[in-house]
Amino acid sequence: MSDYATLTYQGRDYRLPVVEGSEGERAVDISSLRRQTGLITLDPGFGNTGSCRSAVTFVDGERGILRYRGIPVEQLAEQSTFKETAYLLINGALPNRRELTRFSVLLNDHSLVHEDMKAFYQNFPRSSHPMGILSAMVNALRSFYPELEDLEEETTVTVTRLLSKVRTMAAMSYKISRGHTVVYPRPDLTYCANFLNMMFDSPVKPYALDPDVVKALNVFLILHADHEQNCSTAAVRVVGSARVNLYAAISAGIAALWGPLHGGANQAVIEMLDGIARSRNLPQVVARAKDRADSFRLMGFGHRVYKTYDPRAAIMRRTAHRLLEKLKISDPLLDVARELEQIALKDDYFIEHHLYPNVDFYSGIVLRAIGIPLNMFTVMFAIGRLPGWIAQWKESLDDPDWKLCRPRQVYVGPTEGPYVPLDER
Ligand code: CMC
Repeated sequence: MSDYATLTYQGRDYRLPVVEGSEGERAVDISSLRRQTGLITLDPGFGNTGSCRSAVTFVDGERGILRYRGIPVEQLAEQSTFKETAYLLINGALPNRRELTRFSVLLNDHSLVHEDMKAFYQNFPRSSHPMGILSAMVNALRSFYPELEDLEEETTVTVTRLLSKVRTMAAMSYKISRGHTVVYPRPDLTYCANFLNMMFDSPVKPYALDPDVVKALNVFLILHADHEQNCSTAAVRVVGSARVNLYAAISAGIAALWGPLHGGANQAVIEMLDGIARSRNLPQVVARAKDRADSFRLMGFGHRVYKTYDPRAAIMRRTAHRLLEKLKISDPLLDVARELEQIALKDDYFIEHHLYPNVDFYSGIVLRAIGIPLNMFTVMFAIGRLPGWIAQWKESLDDPDWKLCRPRQVYVGPTEGPYVPLDER
């Protein structure tokens, strides 16, 4: 039986259909609102607005639940690999052995980057942030691989190419930024092992792959693989709604992710923890975060959707502990992070505001232990989020409700007035 919400406006009732998702969440369908009533809705930040129906990822921010295609992220982090999780997100179901092998072969076949792209990397100013470079280079891929335009090639090939090359490009940018020889991908290595090898192998110091490090990287990437309609994914969908090519849409997502309130938070957390460790000013930092007159925020705390502990943060914390223990690393920033978390979890301000550690709070500790340089942290988030962006972009291509995204506004600027010539002003 259909359900309706009734809106009463200027003495008239309007019936608006209520739609229900597979997890019971409900939405008022307002697609006929303006036509029927002349009204639009106003929802800055879109906290109350559903932009699409999606079957990719389910998040329940009140109960701390995250599932990709129905599978709890905890199970994927424990038992899956990033490659398999990427397949799941993009194709809608876990691969069987044959499908996984074909996916691996495609990832391997498309792992090299056009040699001419090296020139781009070499000419970016040395101080460029890797996220700016990555966003530009992903967009540039379109010029190197124009086949996408006529949509003749299988989507699987295009998406696999992007998944594989972004990893190669990220490692390549690191090597070039250090003035080192680029290390090429190897067919005998898995997705994550290959990335680590391309980052850290050198002709004079071969990189010894450690299965615990490879596992930690898999977990890191799985935890970042999708998060439904977040800022960068919304950017991919909005830009993609103009039917631009996949590379351009993903490039927009990377640009959005760069922001410190979004993916850039992982770098900001480490900078904050490092500052606290050096200045030993934990109480002052907490006091500043609570002071409403001060715009400072605890980085890695709070989330737009989670009003309880971010399930990804719990897994990331365990992963950080395990990895540091295995590698026998003592990181003073982990001690600061734990202390800060303990203070915040008992503090009325954080309790009342439902502020808990988010995925970025412990992820930097894991990345540091792996050896990833600080300015590459958000690039790691981007590599992780790529399957999610691709899955959402693919879904939007086939969406029967698809529309060019074009929000409206409530105009509050000056009302009509004449143009005043320069001499009369
Ligand atoms: N530290 C101190 N106060 C905070 C924080 C924080 N990290 N986050 C929110 N608040 C306060 C905020 O000042 C406001 O207080 P009041 O109501 O008294 O004015 C209240 O909580 C609500 O703030 P909001 O900005 O409306 O809340 P939001 O849920 O829209 O914000 C957020 C989400 C992620 C932008 C915010 O929590 C934040 O800035 N966190 C730090 C940055 C960060 O860690 N970002 C990574 C997010 S997870 C990775 C990802 O997926 O992007």
